[in-house]
Amino acid sequence: MKTQHFFTLLFVALALKVHVAVAQPGNRPSPETRAPGQEQQIADLLQRMTLEDKVGEMTQLTLDMLCYGDPYKLDEPVRLDPDKMHDALVELRVGSILNAPNHTLPRERWVEIIQAIQAVATEEKLSGIPVLYGIDAIHGANYVAGATLFPQQIALAATWDTSLARRMGQIVAYETRAAGIPWNFSPVLDIGRDPQWPRFWETFGEDVLLASHMGQAMIRGYQGKDLSSGEAVAACMKHFLGYSVTLSGRDRTQAWIPDRELRQYFLPTFQAAIDAGARTIMINSGEINGVPVHVNRDILQTLLREELGFTGVAVSDWEDIKYLYTRHRVARDYKDAIAMAINAGIDMSMVPTDLDFPVLLAELVREGKVPMARIDESVGRILRLKQELGLFEQPRGPAQAYPLFGSPAHAQVSYQAAVEAMTLLRNRNSVLPLSDQSRILVTGPTANSLNALNGGWTHTWQGVDTTYNTPGKRSMLQALRDALPGKVSYTPGSGIDQPGDLNEVARLARDADVIVVCLGEMPYTEVVGNLNDLDLPLAQRDLLRAAKATGKPVVLVLVEGRPRTFNDVADLPDAVLMAYLPGDEGGRAITDVLLGRRSPGGHLPFTYPRYSNALMTYDHKKTDGLDVQFGWTAFDPLFQFGEGMSYTTFAFSNAALSPAAWDGKSPLELQIDVRNTGRRDGSELVAVYLDDEVASITPPVKRLVDYRKVSLAPGQSSTVSFALDLQDLAFIGADGLPRSEAGTFRVLIGDQELRFELLESAKP
Ligand code: BGC
Repeated sequence: MKTQHFFTLLFVALALKVHVAVAQPGNRPSPETRAPGQEQQIADLLQRMTLEDKVGEMTQLTLDMLCYGDPYKLDEPVRLDPDKMHDALVELRVGSILNAPNHTLPRERWVEIIQAIQAVATEEKLSGIPVLYGIDAIHGANYVAGATLFPQQIALAATWDTSLARRMGQIVAYETRAAGIPWNFSPVLDIGRDPQWPRFWETFGEDVLLASHMGQAMIRGYQGKDLSSGEAVAACMKHFLGYSVTLSGRDRTQAWIPDRELRQYFLPTFQAAIDAGARTIMINSGEINGVPVHVNRDILQTLLREELGFTGVAVSDWEDIKYLYTRHRVARDYKDAIAMAINAGIDMSMVPTDLDFPVLLAELVREGKVPMARIDESVGRILRLKQELGLFEQPRGPAQAYPLFGSPAHAQVSYQAAVEAMTLLRNRNSVLPLSDQSRILVTGPTANSLNALNGGWTHTWQGVDTTYNTPGKRSMLQALRDALPGKVSYTPGSGIDQPGDLNEVARLARDADVIVVCLGEMPYTEVVGNLNDLDLPLAQRDLLRAAKATGKPVVLVLVEGRPRTFNDVADLPDAVLMAYLPGDEGGRAITDVLLGRRSPGGHLPFTYPRYSNALMTYDHKKTDGLDVQFGWTAFDPLFQFGEGMSYTTFAFSNAALSPAAWDGKSPLELQIDVRNTGRRDGSELVAVYLDDEVASITPPVKRLVDYRKVSLAPGQSSTVSFALDLQDLAFIGADGLPRSEAGTFRVLIGDQELRFELLESAKP
């Protein structure tokens, strides 16, 4: 036994030494593009593996299954149980572990845990194949104590700055690897087109183009140039496909999405991510048109593999194979569900809390119900990923020191992203920026909460427990007090949905020059964030009324992951600053923007609705705008997609395009001058929208086709140029294919409008 084990290990070690020439980022690591030796090693390994070895590789358990205590109720402090490790890793040959044990752990503890798991996997298990550890490090290594926590995706999108997304990706990868973890379940590439959906804030907002660019940048940051470098992690695109637009707005409920729409709005982010080289994908827990995605071979095989050319690992979402019979009821029992999902194309099952999956899958293979070729295909993909991540050479986790983990330099990038995200939506009488001499009353349920700034997936799944917060990180109130000692008074004013002491607000307001009211949401994710009412709770709206009634200027700061409506009081605040979920440096960023030490740089990546039942995106159809009086005023959001002011002013001029009659062969050139006409530095978003006047599928009123963010000093101007091609004009036609149709297009750029004619239709 021992000798056989030695040879297996030797073989694995030799086989995998050669893999240094990993695929370049952006290249798809398909069998065809890799060195022949690397593929041969996978083939040899597959040949030596038993059926049990293989089904084990396709099994992913939550860490709880290796620890003392019961899943979700672990004994504290968390400790690995050698018997459970043996059962899972040696007997069942489980190939992947995920998740945090309920909460953040110190980095050193993570390294010990990973090392202990890998020791069992590589020394006691016959195949000697190391374990692939995966985690949700969605806005930083958010389960590692002291890691840098960034703004959540929705805030990052508000920066409209892909270089920040890439830099963030690099840092998150570095800090995740520093804990010994090589696989990150991020980014979310679902499009946030319904603010009721509780994971809206995990998206890059409602626009397909912006989300595609942000997703690509983040993936390039995560994966770097060399996945095995020890500073890169494999990205996981999620949740494929159509997860974010349920009929009810609630998480993991049914969606009905016509194929044309699926391709127009929900596929492009994944296509872009695959083009950027993303190695893994997680499947949508929900169902589309009555079919759970986990059994939909048209989506998992025909679309994902054959059409999009994805060659990496497809992992199920949490317990989703089991849910096929316990929730969706398309399978008779667990075994039937496993056969359906694996035959449809799932490579790895996030089981995550039972040991039956590999046993039942092996039975299915022996009974001829799942072909061995299907198993080999999945296991090949998983081994290839482990090979690329360098796990065979360095299974034990980090060999380097990671001196920049949680460093001030990393915090500075997070701060910068938060400042660039701050979106100023109203500023009557230039109430902002506040003077350093102001006496400020701060109130509201999100004012003194670091957790509110961070949102879900922060130290714990739901992000509400304050026990694990990083010492020294500041809430908005604390940061403002740091900046203006002795000038800031505070009273909570209200809870999230419980009334507070409004008399105290009135009393403290007497000695204040301005009131900063911080409203919004406390953290949540997934089903826990389902809503019955998009309106901000009455208690918070009453607080705004009370603040206004004092007669003092009122600045509203919104700390929230989705646009909560507040129409009955929307006119009251003199200034409105949308802060989203800006992360651990958010308190400082809000403070510096309020005090004018930094200019707000953000622009809404979604439409902010005025009414809770009028939820339309900026790229709605013309007929959506028809109101009861037969006017065209039904699209009447509180704030528009792309909106965001600065402390300076800008003017657009000299918009021009060429040629006005375009054959589509060479690019259509577009340019505009932007000038900073105010007295401060600032940045402006130059967004280009197209309005296709007539098309065979009803066109949206406008669609974003390009954008640029420019920073200008007072008096400075810049000419911004764009080049459009036929792809920018394309939409998905009735045949499910992209097409651009001849006719007139209106170009909306800055506050200018131009027109051109496309001479011939084309299928780009
Ligand atoms: C979520 C995924 C997450 C997974 C692992 C699921 O409940 O839907 O987004 O990656 O859990 O934690």
